[in-house]
Amino acid sequence: MATVVVALGGSLLRPENEQLNTWLEDLVGVIQERSSAGENIVLVVGGGAPARDSINLARPVINNVFHLDKIGIAATRLNATIIREAMSDSGILASGEIPQSIEAALECLENEGVAIMGGTVPGHTTDAVAIRLAIVAKAEKCIIATDVDKVYSEDPRANPDAKSFDSLSLSQLQEIVGPPEHSKAGVSQVVDPVGVDDALRNSLPLDILDGRNVENIRLSLEGKTFNGTTVRV
Ligand code: UTP
Repeated sequence: MATVVVALGGSLLRPENEQLNTWLEDLVGVIQERSSAGENIVLVVGGGAPARDSINLARPVINNVFHLDKIGIAATRLNATIIREAMSDSGILASGEIPQSIEAALECLENEGVAIMGGTVPGHTTDAVAIRLAIVAKAEKCIIATDVDKVYSEDPRANPDAKSFDSLSLSQLQEIVGPPEHSKAGVSQVVDPVGVDDALRNSLPLDILDGRNVENIRLSLEGKTFNGTTVRV
């Protein structure tokens, strides 16, 4: 049975966003559709605002990056719980608990067909978790749903002249995001360099897309053209 893995950036869950209800509803609809079509689905949810706020609160008293990471992981699991409960209220059979490791997620996939999780261990972000899962579950690709429209040559908020890409190779993407280092908890890049390195070493294609519009996620799941950056070997 085909497995699809989607990393959902925590920034997509915004309480201040009036459209959040529709976004969640749309997401539930797409997952329902794909799951009834017989696909195994993993959603790996990022920490977003709760991760950033809690890490910033603790930073003045905690110096160890791995300890700050644990706070970030707790926030990712909080967000994953929101998504999980929304799915299960709509009748999607998802894991009873949030899987806390790659192995536990694979077990959920085998039993329920849908796994919804956050982070696993310190040292990377949920993008890297999703990419690792896609590799071990032999998924065709990993979808990285974030809140920017495409991958840019530089942060477009810092440089408005940054160039955007419709497609890239994995090594070009690595040149943009840099070496696989995790130096600071809670610091966000378009995609985690630790995950990009893993994808490159394992030739795993990535679809990096604007997840604020759930239609984009659907298009990528259906193998159609979406708004974002296609990253291939
Ligand atoms: P996120 O996956 O949300 O990372 O994890 P991010 O890139 O900072 O945020 P998004 O994707 O834009 O929402 C939040 C933080 O939790 C820790 C890291 O400190 C990360 O920055 N974390 C997360 C881990 O240490 N391990 C994990 O497996 C996941």
